Formats: sequence, C-alpha cells, structure tokens
Amino acid sequence: MSVLRAPILGLARSDRARRLAESLPAATRVVRRYVPGESTAAAVQAAAALAGDGLHATLDYLGEDTRDLARAEATVEAYLTLLEGLAERGLTRGAEVSVKLSAIGLALPGDGREIALEHARTICAAAGARGTAVTLDMEDHTATEETLEVLHELRREFPETGAVLQAYLHRTEDDCRALAYEGSRVRLCKGAYDEPEEVAYVERREIDRAFVRCLRILMAGRGTPMVATHDPRLVEVALALAARTGRPQGSYEFQMLHGVRPDEQRRLAAAGESVRVYVPYGSQWYGYLVRRLAERPRNLSLFATSLLSTK
Ligand code: FDA
Repeated sequence: MSVLRAPILGLARSDRARRLAESLPAATRVVRRYVPGESTAAAVQAAAALAGDGLHATLDYLGEDTRDLARAEATVEAYLTLLEGLAERGLTRGAEVSVKLSAIGLALPGDGREIALEHARTICAAAGARGTAVTLDMEDHTATEETLEVLHELRREFPETGAVLQAYLHRTEDDCRALAYEGSRVRLCKGAYDEPEEVAYVERREIDRAFVRCLRILMAGRGTPMVATHDPRLVEVALALAARTGRPQGSYEFQMLHGVRPDEQRRLAAAGESVRVYVPYGSQWYGYLVRRLAERPRNLSLFATSLLSTK
C-alpha cells in the first residue's frame, strides 16, 4: 500500500480540512472528475448520459457519519426526489441507488440502528415501487456487523437489496459464503478505509489475493456477483472465473467509479458485459474525495493545484 494512504485517509476525519475544502468552490477539476454535480438534476443527467453509452448507474447522495436526525431525514428526502427524477426520465431500469447507513441515521446516539433501518425501508420501498433497488454501501469495520444485520432485515421485505463486502477484511470470505445464495446481489470491492491489521489485510498483494478468493466463492455461488474494481488483473480474473463457472454475461456485473477508467467501462460494455457506474453527487463530497485521493496519491497534487487556482 502507498505510504501516503493512511495520512491522506486521516484527513477524512479532520473537520478543519473538510471545512477548508468545502468552503472553496467545488467546481475544481479533480472534484468534478469523481462527482459530476451537486443537484438531483445533475445526477439524473449523469445517469442519462451513461445509459446513452450502454452503461448502468448506481447513484449515491453524498454524506456520511450524520450526527443530526434532521440531516438524516433530509438525506432520505433527497433519495426520494432522486428516484422520482429517475422515474420521470424512464431511467429506473438501468439505475439503482447506493446508500450509506451512517448517512441516514446509523451513527445517531441511542436508537440509531432502528432509525437507519426505518429510513432504509422508506428508500427501498420507493425504489421497489419504481422498479429499481438499493445497494447498502459498506463503511469502516466498526459498522460491518450492523450493516449486515440491517441488510438481512431489509431483504425479508426487499430481497433485491444489494450488499457490499470488502475483500480486505479477514471476515469477508465467510461473509461471501453466507451471502452467495440465489437472488443475493453482492458487490465485492477491495475496501477504501484505513483499517487496523487486527481486522484487515493491509498489503496490496494480500488484498488482491483475498479479492480473488472471495470472487471465486461468489462466482461459484447462486447470487449475482458485482465486481467493483478498476484493477485490470482482477477484471481478467473475473472474466476467467465467469467462463470457468459457466456464467453467462448478465449473471454478474462489473462496477466502476465515475471518472475512473471510463474507456475500460465502455470497452467492457461494448464486449457485452453488464457495467454499472457509481455516481456520487451532492455538496458533501469531502470524505468521498479523500478516499479517492488516497487510492491515487498523484491526484493530490492535481487537487492542490486546482484549489489554489480557484482563489
Ligand atoms: P486499485 O486501487 O488497486 O486500483 C487499480 C487501478 O484502478 C489503478 O492502478 C488505477 O489505474 C485505477 N484507479 C483506482 N482508483 C483510482 C482513483 N481514485 N483515481 C484514478 N484511478 C484509479 N469501498 C468501500 O469500502 N465501501 C464501498 O461501499 C465501496 N463501494 C464501491 C463501489 C464501486 C462501484 C467501486 C468501483 C468501488 C467501491 N469502493 C467501496 C471502493 C473500493 O473499495 C476501492 O477503494 C476502489 O475501488 C479502488 O480499488 P480498485 O479495486 O479499483 O484497485
């Protein structure tokens, strides 16, 4: 792993750095690469543009670690407005939404878990009514257990609700086995948080190997694996495993982030693969951006330059 990863991810927890970054005009080159806009209209437009290129979308209204009930409720409203906007443009067949439980109440003191579950139910119901679904993003390891518990409860009513598992966690192979059942949609990613060695692999090679082990389980299982990586070697491994397990195209999908390897997204789609692009939008882009910079430290200097040029 890059030696810069932990210090950069540390910035995600700094309120001072967040306030500074958010107070500067958001329309910098680097932010716009990853976050196409702040409004619902911008998100719907991004989904429409992707659909025009034969790509599916999953839209994320940015925000996390909400300590304020009113803000959690406003986030639920934002998702409802988004789903309405997608439906009006006839986009809900190809566009779903991704939700962080900490943005809708999980981090609230007391009955945060129950509040998050109720809020997630509301979003899942609205998505289901419009013929689409929700995937629950996975946050740092302190939220893994609760997120999976909420997922199980949601799936009773909304079986199409997607899960995210992070290959870097030691527990994830077991979680893959538990979730590889028919109808289960599982997004497998490497994991984006700064996790301690007690719970996670920290070396790049170890993480990649764990990803392959998890992918083998999911591809051999009966659910729908959602292969969320830009790593060319892992994309090849996924294609090989799909061929080996006799999976037809469409019984699994590739997922990539908006702004990352867009040519590869289109190449895979042109080859008949199902490809979904993760589209974050909204004004609270700071935590998301810091994780993207940690994956690609060379973007940090680009970001610093664009901030200075906005003065
Ligand atoms: P890796 O980081 O090794 O990158 C492989 C190659 O991809 C790089 O060499 C570069 O070419 C390109 N690349 C990767 N990141 C880039 C960047 N930021 N800018 C430019 N190029 C870049 N994590 C999590 O913890 N919880 C979650 O819920 C999700 N959800 C999620 C959804 C989707 C659709 C994706 C694609 C990813 C996530 N992630 C996530 C993030 C994930 O855990 C991981 O941090 C990133 O995908 C980067 O890992 P890669 O597998 O791409 O490999």
